[in-house]
Amino acid sequence: MCGIFAYLNYNVSRERRYILEVLFNGLRRLEYRGYDSSGIALDADRTAPSSSASPSDAPYTGAPPLVFREEGKIENLVRSVYSEVDEKDVNLDAAFSVHAGIAHTRWATHGVPAPRNSHPQSSGAGDEFLVVHNGIITNYEVLKETLTRHGFTFESDTDTEVIPKLAKFVFDKSHDEEGDVTFSQVVMEVMRQLEGAYALIFKSPHYPNELIACKRGSTLILGVNELSGQQNGKQFHDVKTLTTNGKPKELFFSSDLCAIVEHTKNYLALEDNEIVHIKDGSVSILKFDPHKEKPAFVQRALSVLEMEVEQIKKGSYDHFMQKEIHEQPHSLTTTMRGRLKDGGVLLGGLKEHLKTIRRCRRVVFIGCGTSYNAALAARPFVEELTGIPVTMEVASDLLDRQGPIYREDTAVFVSQSGETADTLHALDYALENGALCVGITNTVGSTLSRKTHCGVHINAGCEIGVASTKAYTSQIVAMAMMALAIGSDQISTQARRNAIISGLTSLPNSVSEVLKLDAEMKELASSLIDSESLLVFGRGYNYATALEGALKVKEVALMHSEGMLAGEMKHGPLALVDENLPIIVIATRDACFSKQQSVIQQLLSRKGRLIVMCSKGDASAVCPTGSCRVIEVPGVADCLQPVINIIPLQLLAYHLTVLRGFDVDQPRNLAKSVTTQ
Ligand code: F6R
Repeated sequence: MCGIFAYLNYNVSRERRYILEVLFNGLRRLEYRGYDSSGIALDADRTAPSSSASPSDAPYTGAPPLVFREEGKIENLVRSVYSEVDEKDVNLDAAFSVHAGIAHTRWATHGVPAPRNSHPQSSGAGDEFLVVHNGIITNYEVLKETLTRHGFTFESDTDTEVIPKLAKFVFDKSHDEEGDVTFSQVVMEVMRQLEGAYALIFKSPHYPNELIACKRGSTLILGVNELSGQQNGKQFHDVKTLTTNGKPKELFFSSDLCAIVEHTKNYLALEDNEIVHIKDGSVSILKFDPHKEKPAFVQRALSVLEMEVEQIKKGSYDHFMQKEIHEQPHSLTTTMRGRLKDGGVLLGGLKEHLKTIRRCRRVVFIGCGTSYNAALAARPFVEELTGIPVTMEVASDLLDRQGPIYREDTAVFVSQSGETADTLHALDYALENGALCVGITNTVGSTLSRKTHCGVHINAGCEIGVASTKAYTSQIVAMAMMALAIGSDQISTQARRNAIISGLTSLPNSVSEVLKLDAEMKELASSLIDSESLLVFGRGYNYATALEGALKVKEVALMHSEGMLAGEMKHGPLALVDENLPIIVIATRDACFSKQQSVIQQLLSRKGRLIVMCSKGDASAVCPTGSCRVIEVPGVADCLQPVINIIPLQLLAYHLTVLRGFDVDQPRNLAKSVTTQ
C-alpha cells in the first residue's frame, strides 16, 4: 500500500528544479497512502558530445540516474534532496527537453522503514534498472533464491527488490543471446515471472528518456497533458485518444487521480496486464498475455477527469480531516444529485439488476473498518425497506472462515477506495461462488467498481484524510437510496419511503446545523484530553455510530476507545463503569429511545461519567438529574439519524487529536487504502 508517481516531459524544456517539484508534489498528493519513507530517481546531467552542444540537451550517455531515498514523511525527502544536491553539486538549473523521473511513497510491509527499504529499488551497482512498486509480490522468496544463485546480492528486506534485479537478469541474458532487446520485452519477461498484485514503473539508463509502467491488481493511472502534432499539414490537439500521431508534452503515472488533477484532466485507468511504453514521446499500450509469445497492441480512449483541483487542497482549513468533516453538506448533496427523481430514486448503476436483487435469498454486506460500519448503519433500513434478510461480513473474517456465499445471494461490497485488498479478495470469492456482486465505492475506475456486476458511486469527492469521514456519511446515503430503489415495488412501504426521501432532501441542511457544534466538541475534547479510554454506547440504527465514533477516536487521537451495543452493557462492560471513565451514550429519538433512557439510569446509578447525545429539546428526558453532559443534535428521519449523529463524534476525534498533538491526517502506522492482506 504505497503511492507511485512518474513524470515525463517531452519536447518541452524543464529545469531539474521544476521536475523535482512535480515529483515532490505528486508524492505529497499520494502521501496519505503511506508515509514511512519515500524516494525519487532523476536523470544525471547529460554530457555534451561536442563543445557546441549545450550539456543538458545533448544525447543522453546512459549515466546512472540520481537516486534519493529517505525515511519518514515526504518533507524529510525534500529536505535531504536539497541538501544532497548542494553537497554533490547537482545542477538544479540544468534543463531537459525530455526527462523521465519516478517517485514513491511507502507504507512498510516487508522490512522496517529505512532508506534501503525505500523505493526506487535498484538492480544493483549503476542502477541499471530502477523500479517503484505498489502492491505485493507473493513469490518474491523463490525469485530471490534463483537470483541469488545467479550472483545477485540483496540489500533490502523488500519483496520489490527482486523486480529490478530480475529486469537486469533478463536484460543481460537477452542481450547476450539475441543482441538488442527492447524495454517492453524486458518488462514483459519480468511480468511473466511475477506473482501477486502490482503497479510498477521502470526506469533504466539502458533506455534513456523512456518509461514503462504495467499493472496487475493494483490501480495505475496514466495522465496525458496536451497531445499536439501535425496532421494533414494542420496543427491539431487530440485529448481523446492516444492512437493518433500526436505527441504528448507531459505524461504522468500515478496510483490515483488526486496526483494528476493539477496537471491534466485527460487520463487512462490501466487495465490488468496492460503495459504502457513511452518512447520518443509516443505512447504504446500492450496487452500482456502469459500464454502468448507476443503482446497485442491495444487502443484506448482517454477519459476526462471530473475533479477540481480545490478538492485536493486544504483551502482555509488546517487539516484535510477537518475540511472533509465540514464538507459534508456538499458531499451529501453530490451523492444524491440527479438521483432523487419524481418522488422516487434513480440509480443508473443498479437499474438493470433490481429484479435480480429483489429475488435474492439474502443480502450480504462486506467491507472493512469505516466502510463496514457504514454497511452496519444501513442494515436495519435495507431489511425494513426490502424485506430481504441482511447479514454482515468483515471481509477478512469471511475469507478466514471461507463463510458460505451462494449464487442466490446479493453480495454488496462497500469501500471508499475500491482498492482494499481484503474486500477485493472477498469479492473474488463471492464472484467464484456465483453471487450477484454490487459495489458501493467512492472511486470511479477502481478495481471494485470494475470487478462488480453493478453498483453505486457515492460521489463524495476525493477523500485525503486517512480517517474516513465524508465517505462514511455518503456511503450510508448511497445505501439508503439503494434500499429505496430495491423496495420501490412494495406498496405497503410507500409512505415510509416518501418520508425517507423527504428526509434525504433536507439532510444537507441538518448536517450544516449539526456542524455548528464544532466549538462545543472542541470544549468537550479539552475535558477528555487526559482520559485513557472512552466508551461509546449505541443500539439500533446507532450501533454503527458507536463503533464508528470509537474508531475515529482510536485511529486519530490514539486514545483507547470502544463502541458497544448498549443492549450488551449489562453483560460485562458495566463492570468498567466508575466516575472517571468517560462514556458517550447515543440516545436520539427512535424506537430504542426508552431502552436507552434506562441504560442511562443504570449507568448513572453506578456514578458513570456520562456524555449523552440526544435529539434537540430532550436534555431533561435523557438526564433528569442534570448530572450528564448533553450534546443536542437535530432530529431527522430515524434511519438517517446515524448521518447526523456521527458528525459530533468526528469533530470530537478531530479536536482531541489536535489537542493531544498528534498528526490528524496521517495517523501513526496507518495508510488510507490497505492494498495488502
Ligand atoms: C477508518 C478507515 C478505515 C477504512 C478501511 C477500509 O477511518 O478509513 O477503517 O475504512 O481501511 O477502506 P476502504 O473503505 O477504502 O475499503
